[in-house]
Amino acid sequence: MSTQSAIQEKYGAAARAVTQTSVAACCDPGLRCCDPITKNLYGAGEKDLLPENAVLASLGCGNPTALIDLQPGETVLDLGSGGGIDVLLSARRVGPTGKAYGLDMTDDMLHLARENQRQAEARNPGTLNVEFLKGEIENIPLPDNSVDVILSNCVINLSSNKDRVLQEAFRVLRPGGRFAVSDVVTRGEVHPAIRQSMLLWVGCIAGALQEDEYQAKLAAAGFTDISLEPTRVYDIEDARQFLTEAGVAVDEIAPQVEGKFLSAFIRATKPCCAPGCC
Ligand SMILES: C[S@@+](CC[C@H](N)C(=O)[O-])C[C@H]1O[C@@H](n2cnc3c(N)ncnc32)[C@H](O)[C@@H]1O
Repeated sequence: MSTQSAIQEKYGAAARAVTQTSVAACCDPGLRCCDPITKNLYGAGEKDLLPENAVLASLGCGNPTALIDLQPGETVLDLGSGGGIDVLLSARRVGPTGKAYGLDMTDDMLHLARENQRQAEARNPGTLNVEFLKGEIENIPLPDNSVDVILSNCVINLSSNKDRVLQEAFRVLRPGGRFAVSDVVTRGEVHPAIRQSMLLWVGCIAGALQEDEYQAKLAAAGFTDISLEPTRVYDIEDARQFLTEAGVAVDEIAPQVEGKFLSAFIRATKPCCAPGCC
């Protein structure tokens, strides 16, 4: 099975679980990600504004909308929008003169997101401008220079072509546009077998980038003002149950895990093309 098919199968099942049973997607045993990666990312004030299933479907590893300044009238694109939580939160901030796009390749997630959109719009008539698009983050179905802010929450780590995703993000951003992404990254040298076990726990099918590598890839795509801010650092206790069940000698590898697997908020800017252009 290709990586893309495996991702669609896994997240399609998570979306169906939320739609059919109203159980939090992160509690699906196949996802193994309930704690501590996806836990307590959003404040009660944010969750109260959203349809219940948008909150239950949350599978991110950060809260990018809380860390970026969004202005009324801006256009936002969320790469791998899942059940739509960050799209709906962004839509409230950019208002009816702005636009919040979500992009996802999994039909069941899009179905869930559009139902969440319908409920959010019914609660807030005329105040949200939202559209969920079907497609791959490696081939964004939007024109060049059409977006002010790219968001993403724990999705780029799933891609087997991260260079292409960053090039596409750069292409669709307007000059001066901002990249504001939560993602899992690794820090420093990690033994390949340990890296593989930990990334399986995190759910990074195609592997997380090392933090310097992420910044280098952003620079290679043309971004400037690049920064990476850790938001959660995971330790061996977080992964103990999963790794033990997978037959890993947890206490032996513990010293090599500490401080090396983290969620981070990654910012970058598409530079202006000429003085005064933005
Ligand atoms: C870990 S979930 C995160 C969902 C959402 N960002 C959130 O915070 O709840 C990953 C989502 O990204 C989508 N996805 C993964 N790889 C993708 C790709 N290459 N192109 C488009 N969507 C993708 C999956 O279908 C899934 O909905």
